[in-house]
Amino acid sequence: MSITIGFDVYGTLIDTAGVTQALKEFAGDRAVEFSTLWREKQLEYSFRRALMQNYVHFGFCTRYALDYCCAALGVDISEQDRAELLAGYRVLPPFDDAAASLPVLQDQGYRLFAFSNGKPEDVASLLEHSGISSYFEDVVSTDEIKSFKPNPAVYAHFLRRTGATGKEAWLISGNPFDVIGAASAGMRAAWVRRSPQAIFDPWEIEPTLTIGSLSELADGIRGM
Ligand code: LAC
Repeated sequence: MSITIGFDVYGTLIDTAGVTQALKEFAGDRAVEFSTLWREKQLEYSFRRALMQNYVHFGFCTRYALDYCCAALGVDISEQDRAELLAGYRVLPPFDDAAASLPVLQDQGYRLFAFSNGKPEDVASLLEHSGISSYFEDVVSTDEIKSFKPNPAVYAHFLRRTGATGKEAWLISGNPFDVIGAASAGMRAAWVRRSPQAIFDPWEIEPTLTIGSLSELADGIRGM
């Protein structure tokens, strides 16, 4: 049985905190706070859009969240600089463990996919820029069904697109909400807990597997 692996992108393969450096110019020593709030609002907007069934693509959630943060934190950023920050979102850096682990998983015969809220072209550009695009069979985007994680329909879409079943398909994510969404929709789900401070939502749904880094993934899956 060949195992299909869907990698979440933002927060799993790609580090959204990569915008923090650029934010220092505008937010100074509040850059980390700004970057954290930006990410939280971006996700909140995607959850709400999915629930409202009033879809705009993920780039708009990112844009509106940026505008929110400027207002909430009282940081003045010109239109041109906002556009540059958003352009920076398309060239965010990968986590170090991604580039090291993906070839190992590919050599072991796993089918690897990127699976993201991001538009296919945005995800493709991120993977290309990070030098990891060749490891993936394809990019599966929730944009294809105009919704966002953790709508169960997007995990069903992933299974349909990849021709996999829930038992032989894994979602790998650093985002607990994504892990819970995939497990709730019948997939296996691994949580990448890169920091010991990271907390998993204390619900009745747990990850199938918890790993500290993507380098533990191949052994972790084999051991299940
Ligand atoms: C993604 C979001 C969850 O890449 O970060 O799908």
